[in-house]
Amino acid sequence: MRDDGASPSDDPNPAAADESADGLTAEELRRGRESWWDAGFTRALVEAIPDGCRELVEVGCGLGHVARKVLPQAPGLSYLGVDVDRARLAETREDLEGGPLAERTRFVAGSGEALPLGDETTDVVLFCMTLQHVASPADALRESRRVLRPGGALVAAEPDNLGQRWFFDGPLEEVTRSFAAVIEQCREARAPADLAIGPQVPGLARAAGFGDVEMRVHAIFVTRYETARECRAKWEEMLRLFAHASDLPDNAPAVGACREALDRWLNAGDPERVGHCGTTVPVFVTIAG
Ligand SMILES: C[S@@+](CC[C@H](N)C(=O)[O-])C[C@H]1O[C@@H](n2cnc3c(N)ncnc32)[C@H](O)[C@@H]1O
Repeated sequence: MRDDGASPSDDPNPAAADESADGLTAEELRRGRESWWDAGFTRALVEAIPDGCRELVEVGCGLGHVARKVLPQAPGLSYLGVDVDRARLAETREDLEGGPLAERTRFVAGSGEALPLGDETTDVVLFCMTLQHVASPADALRESRRVLRPGGALVAAEPDNLGQRWFFDGPLEEVTRSFAAVIEQCREARAPADLAIGPQVPGLARAAGFGDVEMRVHAIFVTRYETARECRAKWEEMLRLFAHASDLPDNAPAVGACREALDRWLNAGDPERVGHCGTTVPVFVTIAG
């Protein structure tokens, strides 16, 4: 296995210093995870990992959220995080150093399409919100199959960002449609990666040679009881994040149309009205052997 002491010329990270292959800065990724990752999502991951697995490789480990959340619930499991982003790997390693998970975690630079691992060397390969950013998911799934031991499992938890919905004491159809138009543009801008890859993963897994394929669906939801004005401000942040991660200009027509839809909803009543504000995103959990 190659560790991340490789020479700079081997650096697999072509991205700018402060942005990763997902288009986010480390701070944006951290804030995003803190905004929606809950016990239910951790449970969906833990339940997808077959009993008895001892070694797990996470492709696209980012800032190590999977290690931090899943390992305490899976005492027998050791973890190897792989990512193209060396800066994130270094930050995560440093964060975990000396803590209770340090003994069970290792990190290595590498790409999902060419894993720095031998054939049949692990029990589980996990993707968490990463295949959506990978240029060639088919290659990444074939690589996963190569490194899995006989009887091992692929686990991929990937979103369908086009399936997001927005609510404030009921569904907001116009806001949902206008966000979908922005996300469709982000999706085009990030092609050949696919922000809506979630429901395609089972078919891709079969095409990569996996035989036993199961698909589950988990809804990520963020809900708060707050004023419409507070809710509008959070959604503005989400809009900016999506646009920024895909290099859409702030004055792109779809972004402007989304702001107008948000303002129409906000001003359709008292902006200080209080309600249950929320978004949902379907995450497709594929388990394949
Ligand atoms: C959205 S983050 C997800 C991080 C982590 N899995 C989580 O859920 O918190 C996606 C990560 O995948 C990494 N990534 C993107 N393309 C990759 C590839 N082809 N091979 C390995 N890592 C990749 C990015 O650098 C980024 O850290």
